[in-house]
Parts: sequence; structure tokens; C-alpha cells
Amino acid sequence: MTPGLLHYILLALGVAATIIAHPTPRIDTSTDLPSNSVHQSGGKHHIVLFDSTLPNQPSIDDVLSRLGLYPEHEDVVNHFNGSGFRGFSANMDAHCLDALAEMSDVAIVEEVANVSMVETRSTAPWGLERISSAGTISGNPGTLNFTYSFDTGSGLGAGADIYILDSGINTQHVAFQDRAQVKVLVGSVEDGTGHGTHVSGIAAGMLVGVASRANILGIKMFEDNGTGSSDVALKAVGYAIDSHMARRNQTGFVGSVMNMSWRVPKINAMNMAIKAANDAGVHTIAAAGNDAEDACTGSPASSGGTGGNGITVGSIDISNAISKFSDTGSCVDVYAPGSNIVSAYIGGDNVIRPLTGTSMAAPHVAGIVAYLMTANQSLAQDPPAMKAFLKDTGLRDVITGPTLPGDPRILVNNGIRGK
Ligand SMILES: *[C@@H]1O[C@H](CO)[C@@H](O)[C@H](O)[C@H]1NC(C)=O
Ligand SMILES: *[C@@H]1O[C@H](CO)[C@@H](O)[C@H](O)[C@H]1NC(C)=O
Ligand SMILES: *[C@@H]1O[C@H](CO)[C@@H](O)[C@H](O)[C@H]1NC(C)=O
Ligand SMILES: *[C@@H]1O[C@H](CO)[C@@H](O)[C@H](O)[C@H]1NC(C)=O
Ligand SMILES: *[C@@H]1O[C@H](CO)[C@@H](O)[C@H](O)[C@H]1NC(C)=O
Ligand SMILES: *[C@@H]1O[C@H](CO)[C@@H](O)[C@H](O)[C@H]1NC(C)=O
Ligand SMILES: *[C@@H]1O[C@H](CO)[C@@H](O)[C@H](O)[C@H]1NC(C)=O
Repeated sequence: MTPGLLHYILLALGVAATIIAHPTPRIDTSTDLPSNSVHQSGGKHHIVLFDSTLPNQPSIDDVLSRLGLYPEHEDVVNHFNGSGFRGFSANMDAHCLDALAEMSDVAIVEEVANVSMVETRSTAPWGLERISSAGTISGNPGTLNFTYSFDTGSGLGAGADIYILDSGINTQHVAFQDRAQVKVLVGSVEDGTGHGTHVSGIAAGMLVGVASRANILGIKMFEDNGTGSSDVALKAVGYAIDSHMARRNQTGFVGSVMNMSWRVPKINAMNMAIKAANDAGVHTIAAAGNDAEDACTGSPASSGGTGGNGITVGSIDISNAISKFSDTGSCVDVYAPGSNIVSAYIGGDNVIRPLTGTSMAAPHVAGIVAYLMTANQSLAQDPPAMKAFLKDTGLRDVITGPTLPGDPRILVNNGIRGK
């Protein structure tokens, strides 16, 4: 390095030039920095890249020396000295960052971020591959021959609360470990039909589910023979809101999502209850309905799409075709796997079986919402933001088959774009 260059650099930093007699100002002990150094230990790890559009990029040594650093300094972690780009990473605090901001030949200064691996689970139902990849999927949908990809850093919904307003849950099933509890509003403590167990397995089961570390809070609102009524459904929504409010102040609370895989003809009381839940920060997921008609004619489905801040889910099959039975239209937000979905069931603690319906599509989205609540705090208690995020990150132009007007035709995705 020439003295002239050093002089120029120090002026650029606004630091009084000090004559350094030694031609290469290397200091051997990092605690003994030169007096003109702007470097102080203890800062955060940052990546610095030089402007690669310049005909003559500076050398790593040059830029480090402007900061009172050199390549072997203990706070310098990496050198990027290849042909594609040049720079370094180092632990630096405000003094260095301010100085770098003034350097015209430095293009990028960014704090180092954690990169989490995409983990895969290779014995999964097809629905989990569908929501975690971008390509087409083939195989026998009744098997567990598919691959679920997720971000290891996501937490898989750890700490998020999923309310399953359904027929109860077989809480002893191995898919749930000790994560599932049930509040009984009608009937016995058992899941008489298996529907709630299956839905819970898709949302949050081990092996068969999306958010495999979330809390599962069943609210039993169907009789053991599978019948239900809207007054009990309303009570169930109210119970979930109260539980959410009480949980909100507990340590470790992340957020709440309510899955409703049932449908009644549109009733205002139900839509008002869903609005109250959304206003309280509870995400609500509704099955579109299985009558191949307009989802807006039912509740709670009509609280989704353009109808409110709820999220309404239609069903597709393994070839991305809209399931023949699925309701569609402007009250639908996204589509998810619903045809031939293998999940946990009743009759034993390890029984699995396939079921079909928009009831199977909705919990895929409930699981993704739980997954996103844990991964992204800014979405955790903001239903409109979550709804927008799901639509933004979904796959467009891949769904086939007819829909009623106003349907956005988006295939939900967990944000992983494997394949
Ligand atoms: C970067 O590469 C150049 C040329 O190959 C070399 O002169 C220089 O010492 C290297 N710098 C570091 C910090 O490795
Ligand atoms: C990166 O992960 C480590 C733990 O592995 C954690 O201590 C640190 O805070 C994380 N950094 C960021 C920016 O999230
Ligand atoms: C799929 O899974 C079944 C068992 O569930 C297994 O017999 C079969 O070999 C697997 N592979 C393919 C390609 O179907
Ligand atoms: C959850 O969603 C599934 C699928 O739509 C549905 O069958 C089930 O009844 C829902 N559960 C609740 C509690 O709403
Ligand atoms: C289902 O069970 C409830 C409660 O026991 C009962 O009132 C109702 O009549 C039953 N419905 C059918 C169709 O069995
Ligand atoms: C939760 O805490 C807030 C203040 O952080 C308080 O205003 C509110 O009343 C608390 N709610 C409950 C249910 O304890
Ligand atoms: C978290 O959510 C916000 C929206 O509230 C979004 O802008 C941001 O990109 C999300 N972050 C990640 C890492 O997905």
C-alpha cells in the first residue's frame, strides 16, 4: 500500500491522517489496535461486498485497513476473494458501519442472517408434498410415498394454538404425542366419527400433518352420531375467542388459528362471530363446502374471500384439478389438498386412513397458518396480514377445472419452493 493511498483513505473517512512508518500496517495482536482505528470489538457479524461494477475493485486488505482491521484479525470471519464478487464478513459496530456507509466502492453491508435448511420428511401423504413444493406430483394418493419439505428454522408451529371445532379428537393417537386436548360442549369425550381426529392430524399430526409441533385444542361441537347445530357452533367459536384472550397473556403464547370444517346455510350470527374472532386476532379457516356451489351461500365460508377477514379453503386433487365436490367463487381464498388425504383416525392409537372433502383441505391451511405464526411474529396475531400473505405466497396458474366468477384460483404453499 502506498502512503498516498493511505492518506486518501483516511481523508475519505474524515479521520486525521497519521503517518505510519511501516509500509504494511499489520498489527499482530488484535487487542492492540492502532490509535487511528475506528474498529472496536463486540459488534455484530456483517457481510460487506465491494462494488463489482467498478473497473478496479479495492482489495480486501485495503478496505479492512480503512477500518483499522486486517485479514487475520479475530473479528474478521470470512474473506470473499473469488472471481464473482469480493468482500469480507466481520464483527463490527456502529463506528465501522458508519465508515463503510461513506465508502463509494462498498456496495453492500448487511447483518449476517441465519440460513435454515430445508428439511424433508419422506413418508408423507401427498397433500404435504403439494403444499411444500412447486412442481407437479404423481403417485398413489392413498399411500405415504410423498415428501414434505419444511424450513427447519420455522419451528413447525411450536407454541401456536390450533382450535379444531369438530367432533372431538382421539387424543391418545401417536400422531399427537401429548399436544392434543379436548373441551367437550356436547356428547361424550370420545371422537364418535373420527372426523375431528383426521382433521387434527392434517393440521398438526406427526408424520401426517403440517405443523407437527403446534398445540391442538379440540372443541367438541358435534354429537357422537355426527349431528350438530348452529347454536353449539356459535358457542364453540365464542369459547375459542375466550380461550385465545386468556392464553394471550401467558408466556410463550404465539397466536391462535381456528379450523372450521363444517358448513351451514349463511347465517349472520356465525359471520358476526367470525368477525369478532378476527378482530380479536384469531385466524379463522373455513372449509368452502362440498356441494359444488357458490361458497358465499354458506357460513362460515362466506366470511372468506371478498366476504371478510376469514380464510376459506377449496379442495384440489393430486393433479391440481379442483375436486368435483368443492364449492368455489369469490368467497374462496385458496385451494389445498382435499381428495384422498391420509391422516390419523379412530379405532386405535396408530390407525390412519384416507378421507375426502373440503374438510381435509381446510386443516392444511390451518397447519400452514400455525407454521407461519411461529416463523413470522408480524403475522401471528394479524388475520388480514396473514390472509394477504397466504395469497401472495400461493401458486397461481396451476389449478385446473371450473370455478365460479371472482375466484382467485390460488394453490396454498408453505413458502418452500422445492422441486
Ligand atoms: C485475494 O486474492 C488476491 C489475488 O489472488 C491476493 O493477492 C490477495 O492477497 C487475496 N486476499 C485475501 C485477503 O485473501
Ligand atoms: C441465529 O441463530 C442463533 C442460534 O443458533 C441465535 O442465537 C441468533 O440470535 C440467531 N440470529 C438471528 C439474527 O436470528
Ligand atoms: C408406496 O407405498 C407402498 C406402501 O404404502 C409400497 O408398497 C410401495 O412400494 C411404495 N412405492 C410406490 C412407488 O408406490
Ligand atoms: C377443520 O377443518 C376440517 C376441514 O374443513 C373440517 O372437516 C373440520 O370440521 C374443521 N374443524 C373444525 C373444528 O371446524
Ligand atoms: C344424534 O344424537 C343427538 C344427541 O344424543 C340426538 O338428539 C339426535 O336425535 C341424534 N340424531 C340422529 C340422526 O341420530
Ligand atoms: C393482558 O395484559 C394486558 C396488559 O398487557 C391487560 O391490559 C389485559 O387486561 C390482560 N388480559 C387478561 C385476560 O389478563
Ligand atoms: C413476515 O410477514 C411480513 C408481513 O407482515 C412480510 O412482509 C415478511 O416478508 C414476512 N417475513 C418472512 C421472512 O416471510
